[in-house]
Amino acid sequence: MTNFVGAQHEFHDAAFVQGWADRFVPTAPRLALFDLILEHIGKPGLPNAHVLELGLGPGYMARHILERNAGIGYEGLDFSEVFFEVATKTIGASMPRVTLTKADLMDQNWPEKISRQPAAIISTWALHDLGSQQAVADVYARCYETLPMGGVLINGDFIKPNGTTWTYEPGRFEIDRHLELLRQAGFVEPMLLASYELNTETPTAAQNYACLMAVR
Ligand SMILES: C[S@@+](CC[C@H](N)C(=O)[O-])C[C@H]1O[C@@H](n2cnc3c(N)ncnc32)[C@H](O)[C@@H]1O
Repeated sequence: MTNFVGAQHEFHDAAFVQGWADRFVPTAPRLALFDLILEHIGKPGLPNAHVLELGLGPGYMARHILERNAGIGYEGLDFSEVFFEVATKTIGASMPRVTLTKADLMDQNWPEKISRQPAAIISTWALHDLGSQQAVADVYARCYETLPMGGVLINGDFIKPNGTTWTYEPGRFEIDRHLELLRQAGFVEPMLLASYELNTETPTAAQNYACLMAVR
């Protein structure tokens, strides 16, 4: 199909996952997104030092954060054992500070699987894979219920840029709609922190992502 932005994944297939992880190594703009998230979860005033990542994947963000903030404990949630194996290698020496939690974000009971209440829930390039606005809205609602007062949700994910004539897969949608869904979940003042690699004319599936933040 032409003029379509989306991607098919086989998250439980070892060969696919390793090949995908090798291709998805962090570029400069992706590292800039990690640094932005690192800055916000390192701010004083968060209720505790436990960070939960939704969709640990190959562990690139986890490694970036763990190597730069010695004070936090990290929990990586994913539904793929194969990705846990890749992430364990990526994270390497920091693994003793990491809890791996197997859960499916489509199962509304996923918060019951986490090890403790996080002060920050973070995610990059994962929630669009849930395949619909409703699925993302459900995750936002579960995050609101899970966070303590003063806790923070930061989601960096692929979006559909304004003004495009291209068709995007349903999990990639406009920033304003993300902000609306965050408000519906209960967050009072969700905000756009930054957008990256915007390309409305000739987008690839690896471009057009944004970082949204909401405080409980
Ligand atoms: C692009 S990767 C995340 C990359 C990661 N943030 C990093 O920096 O390395 C997306 C991850 O989301 C996970 N995922 C997709 N759908 C999921 C679901 N329904 N429940 C849990 N994890 C899911 C996939 O298994 C994959 O590991």
